Amino acid sequence: MLQPRYLSVVLSFFISGVTTAFISFLPSSDLTILVISFISCFIFGSILIYFALDYLVFQEVNQLYDRIKQIKKKDFSITPRKQLVEKTNPIELLKKELNTYVTSKEDEVFELKKAAKYRQEFLADVSHELKTPIFAAQGFVHTLLDNPDEDVEIRSKFLEKAAKSLDGLDNLVQDLLTVSQIETGAIKIEKKKMNLRALVEEIFEQVEAKARKRGVTLTLEAPAIPVYVKADMLRISQVILNLVVNGIKYGKENGSVTVLLTEKKKVVQISVIDNGPGIASEHLHRIFERFYRIDKSRAKNSGGTGLGLSIVKHIVQAHNGKITVHSAENKGTTFEFKLEKA
Ligand SMILES: Nc1ncnc2c1ncn2[C@@H]1O[C@H](COP(=O)(O)OP(=O)(O)OP(=O)(O)O)[C@@H](O)[C@H]1O
Ligand SMILES: [Mg+2]
Repeated sequence: MLQPRYLSVVLSFFISGVTTAFISFLPSSDLTILVISFISCFIFGSILIYFALDYLVFQEVNQLYDRIKQIKKKDFSITPRKQLVEKTNPIELLKKELNTYVTSKEDEVFELKKAAKYRQEFLADVSHELKTPIFAAQGFVHTLLDNPDEDVEIRSKFLEKAAKSLDGLDNLVQDLLTVSQIETGAIKIEKKKMNLRALVEEIFEQVEAKARKRGVTLTLEAPAIPVYVKADMLRISQVILNLVVNGIKYGKENGSVTVLLTEKKKVVQISVIDNGPGIASEHLHRIFERFYRIDKSRAKNSGGTGLGLSIVKHIVQAHNGKITVHSAENKGTTFEFKLEKA
């Protein structure tokens, strides 16, 4: 390694050699003078060169160090200079610090690029999803305007369709708001003691009409006593509602949707089970992605935005849980997650 100590010894060795060689040409020189001049030249030379190099190297290194310190401050932790000076090779350490810095910057750039791509895709998805209901409503309204003499029955049918599209638009915007709140961290999960059993019963009441329309039987399998968990009631009701509605919408006609509450030692497991057509394995790992729908046309007919499950996943994660899905084609689908017992 090119360290000041070795470099100064080597350099002063050569310098004293050359000096001694010159002196040897003087007629008055003898061996003693040559030896003394070599040794004194070597010693003084080594010391002077050593300090000069050391001073220069350290000065440079310190300047570099201060510079990095200015750049990084919050970015990464740097070894204190005192420690650096004590080590034998400051340049080696500086190199290491710079490498760490560059690596952390590269990671940062990668994350930023990923975020930018995500934003682009999100914007494209959102505009695409918004376009569909707006176009539909626009079409119906313009048809009505262009045909003022149309039959009252047909007019009201068109108005109904326009209203349905606008309802879909409203749903989409609500879901988008939730997604954005979750992503910006604006949603605060407020965990309180709540009765899961009562919540599921309430949700069943809400979706009863929907279930009846498709002949779906709703069942709650839970201990007869209240099942208490610590969770954000509003958010968890959103989760269970989406899972139950999915079961009704995508399950089979005249099928069944069961909510099963199983009490464990520290948690309560919530399972939402249907006996519908199931989800093929190639889709299974993607259904929690935003806007992902398996059968786009069918989902659209049922007013789905494809944001439901991605919201579900976020909310369950915010409760420190994980949502899992098991599905077998033509047997049915089960979604499961756990909540902390109160
Ligand atoms: N129980 C289920 N059985 C079969 N397929 C399902 C089931 N649940 C969800 N899916 C599929 O997963 C897709 C995504 O579901 P998700 O809840 O995210 O969206 P959505 O129900 O279409 O819309 P939204 O919930 O926003 O109204 C659905 O479009 C459907 O294809
Ligand atoms: Mg849904």
